[in-house]
Amino acid sequence: MKKTKIVVLPGDGIGPEVTAVAVDVLKTVCSQFGTELSVKEFPFGGTCYEQYGTPVTEETLEECKKTKVVLLGAVGGPKWDDLNADQRPEAALLKLRKELGVYANLRPITVYPVLAGSSTLKPEVIKGTDILIVRELTGGIYFGRPRFTSDDNGDPFAVDTMKYSRSEVQRVSKVAFEVARLRNGKVCSVDKANVLESSRMWRKSVVELAEDYPDVELSHMLVDNCTMQIIRDPKQFDVMVTGNMFGDILSDAASMLTGSLGMLPSASIGGDNGLYEPVHGSAPDIAGQGVANPLAAVASAALLCRYSLKLEEAAKKIEEAIQSLLSEGMRTADLYTHEPGTKLVNTDEVADYLINFVQTSKVPA
Ligand code: IPM
Ligand code: MN
Repeated sequence: MKKTKIVVLPGDGIGPEVTAVAVDVLKTVCSQFGTELSVKEFPFGGTCYEQYGTPVTEETLEECKKTKVVLLGAVGGPKWDDLNADQRPEAALLKLRKELGVYANLRPITVYPVLAGSSTLKPEVIKGTDILIVRELTGGIYFGRPRFTSDDNGDPFAVDTMKYSRSEVQRVSKVAFEVARLRNGKVCSVDKANVLESSRMWRKSVVELAEDYPDVELSHMLVDNCTMQIIRDPKQFDVMVTGNMFGDILSDAASMLTGSLGMLPSASIGGDNGLYEPVHGSAPDIAGQGVANPLAAVASAALLCRYSLKLEEAAKKIEEAIQSLLSEGMRTADLYTHEPGTKLVNTDEVADYLINFVQTSKVPA
């Protein structure tokens, strides 16, 4: 059997509960496809701060860079909100993304038809939606310098910097164009080019790169309009490419198309490295109760199989298991709407179903 190592960073809140399920599913599926998975776990975020006084240790960063494949739960919580900026759990996540150089964050927005009733939007609006948001992840206003807080004659102020270079825009756009070729051949680049210099640079850079992709249909949309269009008519989109902060906001909005933020996986890639994490946060309000929806973490594990392990069949098997569970009517609390034929389940019940599904369904010889 082939041996593969991954790093798992369970993180805070519901992170450990959902990653535990994802790791079980991942190990089971990988072994069926001839890969023995060994997992190294490290504390990360607030949990790491409690133990080491820093949200991520150098050892953990080194191990992630060496292993190249990382599955992460979630970070953050009210307990750590008042820490200095560089000690906050979120700082660890940003550092990890930057050090791994995972500049392209893929957030697929897939509407499972059986969940159409769980969304706050009308089923006819969302049914058939299949969007891939490609969010730039290691640049823009999240990382721009200067960045400081100061005081102007008793009036405190703070500065963040939104900067994009042509190379930064083009490497992430290249990912978007390439993946559009494997989908419906459309890329919508989202910016605020009517106001921001950095967005005008963004748009110009995307247009230049598009010359290499005459077979892909490129459009541009302003981010305010896009926020409205994503709710009004989500089916118009195929691949969307956008900067770090716009992508952060748009992906939370788009998550509601799927019924719950608890359904959204993500893959962050760059070079040979891959970081896989659910889009949702650490949900401290329900942590430790065994009721969290682990499907975004499990779907992130599927993306890990697809993009890092190159086990497409394994990825499909995990996605099939999720489909099947939902078709059976099993719903965690975030998705449950008392719809006839559905049943409220907890995290363990979801895990048992998924493991059983991947163990008993047929595997190609
Ligand atoms: C996300 C999260 C992070 C982000 C936070 C936790 C730093 O909201 O992955 O979308 O803003 O990128
Ligand atoms: Mn976010």
